[in-house]
Amino acid sequence: MTRQIKIFDTTLRDGEQSPGCSMNIHEKLEMAKQLELLKVDVIEAGFAIASPGDFASVKEIANIIQDTTVASLARALTKDIDRAWEAVKGAASPRIHTFIATSDLHMKYKLRMSEEEVLKQAVEMVKYANKYCSDVEFSAEDATRSNPQFLYQVLEGVIDAGAKVVNIPDTVGYTTPEEFTNLIKGIKENVPNIDKAVISVHCHDDLGLGVANSLAAAKAGAGQIECALNGIGERAGNAALEEIVMNLNTRRDYYNMSCNVDTTQIYNSSKLLSSITGVAVQPNKAIVGANAFAHESGIHQHGVLANKETYEIMTPASIGLAENTMVLGKHSGKHAFIDRLKSLGYTLDDKTIEEAFENFKELADKKKVVTDKDIEALVYRRNIYIPKMYTFNRFVINAGNSITTTSAVRLMKADGEMIEAITSSVDGPIDASYKAIDQLVGMDFELEDFLINAVTGGTDALGEVNVKIKKDGAIYNGHGVSTDIVEASILAYIGAINNMMYDVSLVDKEG
Ligand code: KIV
Ligand code: ZN
Repeated sequence: MTRQIKIFDTTLRDGEQSPGCSMNIHEKLEMAKQLELLKVDVIEAGFAIASPGDFASVKEIANIIQDTTVASLARALTKDIDRAWEAVKGAASPRIHTFIATSDLHMKYKLRMSEEEVLKQAVEMVKYANKYCSDVEFSAEDATRSNPQFLYQVLEGVIDAGAKVVNIPDTVGYTTPEEFTNLIKGIKENVPNIDKAVISVHCHDDLGLGVANSLAAAKAGAGQIECALNGIGERAGNAALEEIVMNLNTRRDYYNMSCNVDTTQIYNSSKLLSSITGVAVQPNKAIVGANAFAHESGIHQHGVLANKETYEIMTPASIGLAENTMVLGKHSGKHAFIDRLKSLGYTLDDKTIEEAFENFKELADKKKVVTDKDIEALVYRRNIYIPKMYTFNRFVINAGNSITTTSAVRLMKADGEMIEAITSSVDGPIDASYKAIDQLVGMDFELEDFLINAVTGGTDALGEVNVKIKKDGAIYNGHGVSTDIVEASILAYIGAINNMMYDVSLVDKEG
């Protein structure tokens, strides 16, 4: 019998805390729905007290997610726990996740509390949270640098107080697999009531050992692993969910453990996250990188052709990467398009399908063959999910290497009014177009990041642009795809502006 490991996803909390990965409420909801499809056991939806936006998204997620536990983080303080409960109480299965640091370093310099005070606070706050919610998780922050004897005492106290899950974070990514194995074994041997709680682990990747440490801990007896898609999270990130899950699956012979995750949703989940945040994974990233299943060298290709198992320890299909031979083109109808979306693992609402189909037809007119990657790029045209204050209408460029470039951009406002501006730039068509857009919306933005990528090969390939713009200290992402890279750049910029407008409107609503 394999042992069941719970997968606790913190993409929307620890992951979202990492630079460049912030998401608005709309995007968090999309991501949470995808995490439910992925069948993680727990979604940590945010840190409810952190901001009104965080609170609103945890609450919304709690209200819509049916099949997964929804947790909110809370410091071991009554005001945090009150807020966390307020946010998750509507969930089908709510959890309060409360934490306090237990290492000497954190207690002395951050908390300015003694061991006795920390122990008392931890126990009292778990009891307090338990009055609201039967599912309380306690985390001993910086556990791996804590005095093990003190850690055991705290764990015993919080389990007595009602914690159902005790989390052992390697907050700064400091431990090693062997050391962590010994710590988990030590907890099992020295915490007398440990059988009343599930041991969880939460590993950061500062030394590149997040996944290895998490798996070692699971082998030593941990029953829950906390992780994030694409390994996003504070600093070097959290242990990557896809790596944890595919290790458990691929090496079941070694780990003898399984989890509920539907691995065929891994690729889509990873893609969705990248397209929302504009943070792509490196090409050689395990499991979800563009090269993870690509065999380049002749010897490898020869081996794979003879027998896939020579160089393939898992199949692309196992993570939901479909190898499709059916070609879609301009004569393909809506049914074929919907079928392909389904086979790629997308369950989209009618409006989104409609928009994606329109974009598909437009693309099929320009390109002979529309590939799965093109379709993904169309579906992940994130801007379609955000209410549009501005919609791109057309652009005209006059450019050359011996003239100043001019760009005329026409946008449609939400009320249907068409507005147009013409500007020039010595820095080329994209700069000229962005200046024209700034003029139309009456604002200017700092361009934090601009990434351009060809979705497939060939001169008629779709260009995919991700931009990050900065306004008043906040960063907004935009994503655009087109066979014309200037158009893709304009779409991405307008997407980022719409994202900003949407966020500002939410803050205004929240007062
Ligand atoms: O890294 C950490 O210690 C955390 C806790 C709050 C669980 O994120
Ligand atoms: Zn963390």
